Amino acid sequence: MAETQQEIVSVLTEARVFPPPQAFSQRAHLKSMADYQRLWDEAARDPEKYWGDRAREELYWKEPFRTVLDWKPPHAKWFVEGRTNLAYNCLDRHLATRRDKPAILFEGEPMDRRKLTYGELAVEVNRLANGLKSLGVEKGDRVGIYLPMVPEAAVAMLACARIGAVHSVVFGGFSAEALQERMNDAGAKVVLTADGGWRKGAVVPLLKNVEAALPNMPSVEKVVVARRTGDALSLSGPKLVAWDVLVKGQSDVCEPEWVESEHPLFILYTSGSTGKPKGVLHTTGGYAVNASLTTRWVFDLREDDVYWCTADVGWVTGHSYVVYGPLMNGATTLIYEGAPTHPAADRFWDIIERYKATILYTAPTAIRAFMRLGDEHPRKHDLSSLRLLGSVGEPINPEAWMWYRDVIGQGRCPVVDTWWQTETGSIMISPLPGATPTKPGSATLPLPGIHAEILDRQGNPVPKGQGGLLFVTRPWPSMLRTVYGDPERYVRTYFSELPGKYFTGDGARTDTDGYFWLMGRVDDVVNVAGHRLGTAEVESALVAHTRVSEAAVVGRPDDLKGTALVAFVTLKQGHAPSAELKKELAQHVAKEIGAIARPDEIRFAEALPKTRSGKIMRRLLRDVAAGKQSSQDTTTLEDLNVLAALRQNDE
Ligand code: WT7
Repeated sequence: MAETQQEIVSVLTEARVFPPPQAFSQRAHLKSMADYQRLWDEAARDPEKYWGDRAREELYWKEPFRTVLDWKPPHAKWFVEGRTNLAYNCLDRHLATRRDKPAILFEGEPMDRRKLTYGELAVEVNRLANGLKSLGVEKGDRVGIYLPMVPEAAVAMLACARIGAVHSVVFGGFSAEALQERMNDAGAKVVLTADGGWRKGAVVPLLKNVEAALPNMPSVEKVVVARRTGDALSLSGPKLVAWDVLVKGQSDVCEPEWVESEHPLFILYTSGSTGKPKGVLHTTGGYAVNASLTTRWVFDLREDDVYWCTADVGWVTGHSYVVYGPLMNGATTLIYEGAPTHPAADRFWDIIERYKATILYTAPTAIRAFMRLGDEHPRKHDLSSLRLLGSVGEPINPEAWMWYRDVIGQGRCPVVDTWWQTETGSIMISPLPGATPTKPGSATLPLPGIHAEILDRQGNPVPKGQGGLLFVTRPWPSMLRTVYGDPERYVRTYFSELPGKYFTGDGARTDTDGYFWLMGRVDDVVNVAGHRLGTAEVESALVAHTRVSEAAVVGRPDDLKGTALVAFVTLKQGHAPSAELKKELAQHVAKEIGAIARPDEIRFAEALPKTRSGKIMRRLLRDVAAGKQSSQDTTTLEDLNVLAALRQNDE
């Protein structure tokens, strides 16, 4: 835990309230606060009955579960002895009624398009599932997925789920080094990739990255390569197999593996406050119940919706709200491969108009970027198909919220600001659009069955209006089960702050209506453009450079990205600071982790401020980075001159 959490001061006050539009409420799954309250009370009174009922409604179970919850803090098992299969729930279950309904509408960055009906998607998934089996992939084996945002990404995830293999998706923007670290930690047997993907008119060389990492990924026996960009698919080497060759001739029938509810579904790596990313492990039944339920309730899904969540499958949002949640509900999910502003600033609005998208779920950083680009771009397009807007990934500032509501939603669409995490698996705190009055910048209220509380370090409730730490005090079905390969880190990270209570790492406050206002991370994790990064991870990349002696990385508030990364670097003896070296270091971080981790600013320093015990005082550096006079206590600082020197370096 960082030394940060001095006191959490909240400065935001926001008085505007927007009740759900009447016409929206009338047709919504949940129509009023009375509906919400009834479910909330039901869940609080008898959680096991509540979740048991939800689990039976949401999923097809091959074998019924006998126990709803087995809770030995901090370890939960949900729907014990039940057997199900997530691919079956996403596909087969719909075939009788939705065989010809589009499951996936795809648009590539170069404007190529594909439509996959539920019937067609099922065939693709079964063929690949059989293909994976032919490569020796068995239940419980780990499979890496390193693909662009193309339908194959969803097909790959579902094929793994079909045969009980555990997928681990690595964001296509991550480097060869980042891929290697994750695949080795997971012990992946097979990696599914593509020759490349399109981004801002250029090719992201996925296969090249895999090939670079391959000699250092001893567990990987085969690499399956989809054709996307058409880049010289030479496929040399005994480990490479072309996707089309693998699936050719495979049967389009593949019996689902009926896995136990607690069978692992996926591992997704996320940054923590130490250097090594954590493999967040989710299991099948509980994850599926929450993902399915929250998609329908929070997005108020209807049969004729064209639903667009702009997240990449490399993040948990892509797992729960591009692939599993919508498909479990039999919805049509839109997938767009490329950059939001390619080839022009109106690409998103153009997509919404052409596909008549009804629901848009995106990140505040994107909303702020569009806001800057100007209203003329959305105004050029007919956005009247939209009926609901969602936000996720970081706190949304009221100004951006209002712009989203007024310019994109034209005052007609409820805005749902959804708070959750990789670890929670599904949305936890969010408006229900037909029921909850919204306030710009607030994620509003916890969903029924979710016990979110703001406490101090001793576990006492914090008075309304005052900031504190956000905990979830009771287990919920889609909670992470462990950190893969490091069960001790699971306990330490999430359950050591207050025993038995899940610590989110976020600060928050509630207002007099009990609404939640998220205030950002309280640990050494920063949220850059909606993506979580551990500052320690960036630091360890920097110190791996031959000329760097020490590095400290902190976040600085940024209008566009939410948080920008500032790196303070001291060099080894005999090396001088220079503009070229700054560039080289930024490039080095991008290579080690990926472009998203590239520091926005690098500052060279003679020394870093440290406590007498040698700990870098990051909170001081945060103030320096933000150009603030420090209100922080400096009595433990070893050498006050260091701080003065850092401020002088402030160009
Ligand atoms: C962290 C989780 C959940 C999918 C995307 C990010 C921040 C997320 C909100 C929101 C304020 C938010 C939190 C959280 N966050 N949504 N609506 N309001 N903050 O997933 O990478 O696991 O990051 O994102 O700080 O802890 P993630």
